[in-house]
Amino acid sequence: MEFKEVLENRRSIRKYTKQAVEKEKVDAIIEAGLLAPSAHNTQPWQFIIVRDSIPEIVKLLKEEGEKHPEDESISKTADTISRGNTLILVYSDRLENPDFTLLSMGAMIENMLLKATDLGLGSLWIGNILKISSQVAHYFELDDTKLHLVSAVLLGYKEKDPKPLERKTLANSIIKEEK
Ligand SMILES: Cc1cc2nc3c(=O)[nH]c(=O)nc-3n(C[C@H](O)[C@H](O)[C@H](O)COP(=O)(O)O)c2cc1C
Repeated sequence: MEFKEVLENRRSIRKYTKQAVEKEKVDAIIEAGLLAPSAHNTQPWQFIIVRDSIPEIVKLLKEEGEKHPEDESISKTADTISRGNTLILVYSDRLENPDFTLLSMGAMIENMLLKATDLGLGSLWIGNILKISSQVAHYFELDDTKLHLVSAVLLGYKEKDPKPLERKTLANSIIKEEK
């Protein structure tokens, strides 16, 4: 796919077919993430690739949603995850300099989403996973004093292409432009 097409075709996909995502594609998506820039070249990322345990993650997120009925996005995200095929949990292994680490992680995640688009897959960046970071650490027996859950990326073959959401215009985004 042309770079312009990748940029323009990427969107958040919340409905997927039952088709499994090939391991080679998951590996290629993570490898695209590994090419991202990071502050001081720290490369603070680590991953867990979840397939069989997706129902368990959905259950944990649903339980969290029930505790916080005011935030409907939690249970909606749980439903979305249940429709996906592969969930990549994205961890950071650096606890110092959290601003730079988070910026680096964001660059890495965007690389993953663009690669998924390039490979014809749908993807979704999931921040709501943070609502259950301690339950997920317990489930996977991780030491959450050493690894910080930053986000998750859901992958699957998309059911259809949703309409793109409207974007800010160039004119509305520039505060000042000097001569
Ligand atoms: C940091 C971050 C966290 C997000 N978390 C969620 C989430 O938990 N659940 C969800 O359905 N979408 C989530 N999204 C997707 C956004 O809702 C989506 O990117 C935005 O509405 C723009 O739509 P687009 O991705 O199709 O351009 C997240 C996006 C980002 C960047």
